[in-house]
Amino acid sequence: MRFTVAALGALGFLGGVATAINTIDLKGRHFVDSVTGKEFFIKGVDYQPGGAASVEKGGDPLTDKDKCARDVFLFQKLGINTIRVYSVDPSQNHDECMTLLAAAGIYLVLDVNTPLENQHLNNQEPWTTYTPMYLEHIFGVMDVFSGYDNTLAFLAGNEVIFDPGSAKASPNYVKAVVRDMKAYITNHIHRRIPVGYSNADDLRFRNSLAAYLECGDTGYIDFWGVNSYQWCGKNTFAGSGYDKLVSDYSNYSLPIFFTEYGCNKVRPRIWQEVDALYSDQMTGVFSGGLVYEFTQEPNDYGLVNITSGEDVIILDEFDSLGDAFGKTPKQPTIPSSASNPNRPVNCPAASTLTGITANFTLPTTQGAEYIKDGVDKTKFVKGKFVSSPTLTTTHTVTDSQGKEVTDKTIKEVASISQSPIPDGGIGINIGGGTGTGGSTSGSGSGSSGQKGGAGSAKSVTFGWSLGLIAIGFAVFL
Ligand SMILES: *[C@@H]1O[C@H](CO)[C@@H](O)[C@H](O)[C@H]1NC(C)=O
Ligand SMILES: *[C@@H]1O[C@H](CO)[C@@H](O)[C@H](O)[C@H]1NC(C)=O
Ligand SMILES: *[C@@H]1O[C@H](CO)[C@@H](O)[C@H](O)[C@H]1NC(C)=O
Repeated sequence: MRFTVAALGALGFLGGVATAINTIDLKGRHFVDSVTGKEFFIKGVDYQPGGAASVEKGGDPLTDKDKCARDVFLFQKLGINTIRVYSVDPSQNHDECMTLLAAAGIYLVLDVNTPLENQHLNNQEPWTTYTPMYLEHIFGVMDVFSGYDNTLAFLAGNEVIFDPGSAKASPNYVKAVVRDMKAYITNHIHRRIPVGYSNADDLRFRNSLAAYLECGDTGYIDFWGVNSYQWCGKNTFAGSGYDKLVSDYSNYSLPIFFTEYGCNKVRPRIWQEVDALYSDQMTGVFSGGLVYEFTQEPNDYGLVNITSGEDVIILDEFDSLGDAFGKTPKQPTIPSSASNPNRPVNCPAASTLTGITANFTLPTTQGAEYIKDGVDKTKFVKGKFVSSPTLTTTHTVTDSQGKEVTDKTIKEVASISQSPIPDGGIGINIGGGTGTGGSTSGSGSGSSGQKGGAGSAKSVTFGWSLGLIAIGFAVFL
């Protein structure tokens, strides 16, 4: 083991061809490393310095090399393998930042929306914002980031459904966006990057929405993200309600992870939930999670402060979280009792999905042209690793004791070489299409679909005919 790591390091240093960062695949209710086949557990943080306010001013956390070097160094110090970013600008260049993350062995879960106009759904009146321009943005983000092997997954939405109005108006639009993203992958993305949704953990609709997005032939998600702040301070698996969360999802067929966690109502945070998350109590159902959030913002969840001069001050909770991560198993075990259900191809009757309007007729896609021809490759340039990134930062890093950190070099744990990316999409039906695809047809196993010639840019229109047949079923089931 030690030899392998040393050898990789040496090869990387000499610029030779070493094993690049392995892509992550889906297998049943887990993510797996595509090379080792081992289950991949997400251990990470949410990362959007400056929050929405910064995005509104054109900010994108993965464009400034020097700030990325600063933060990737800290991610490595914290002991994480994944970050989640909420908003990016696909017209900017992310190559060096994504290379630094890859070199540090860190993956990216990326939301495809932004708070800017034409780049998200209005969740009370989604029909006003579900437009070709919106889909062009989403597809552009996907196309650009598909160039990087460490892009782990895309999030089609974050808490789009969060109150009675959005629960009524938006579910079938979320499913439509998922359908469109998958159709885009089928035609234009060379590997199956998982597409999921990040849910506001509200008991009024969490189980219904999870079931609605899981089922059917069209527009089904590949994983379910849960934003949960229910374990506060000193607590227990049962006392926090985590037991209920795990049992509610015990039969869910897809990977689940916390897309946000880390209640801040009791300070300092002591991160007992981290122990629980990677223990047998949860690993059968949850694939880890992402702590909210890396930088200190007005809502006070930060692990580090960023000064006005873009220097970093490490806070105490960074240290305690690092200790908690350090105590988690390298490869968490999965209890043998964990079930492995098949994804339901038949949807439950809409009337049983309480708290949401489970409309199985999806709006006709507004992105047919892009799904057929792809986005403009000069406007959205596919990402690519750079060959010799700068592994250190000029910014000052101060530890929680007030002492300046002198060695701020990122350790290369994975080579950043990457094979050329083939043209075209995966050519397999993964629940995409361009019609009003319904989702209750009983045919096939939904999750695999038919081979359509990988690597070809053949356009897909499936979902259309299935959908028309399916609508009838939905009513009677
Ligand atoms: C999970 O499935 C088992 C076996 O079908 C069933 O007994 C149990 O009630 C289900 N649990 C939930 C939470 O739906
Ligand atoms: C970090 O920022 C917060 C909020 O701006 C401030 O209250 C706190 O004193 C800062 N901590 C350090 C160590 O600078
Ligand atoms: C279901 O959604 C479709 C597409 O948006 C819409 O045309 C239809 O009116 C909706 N049905 C109901 C019952 O709301």
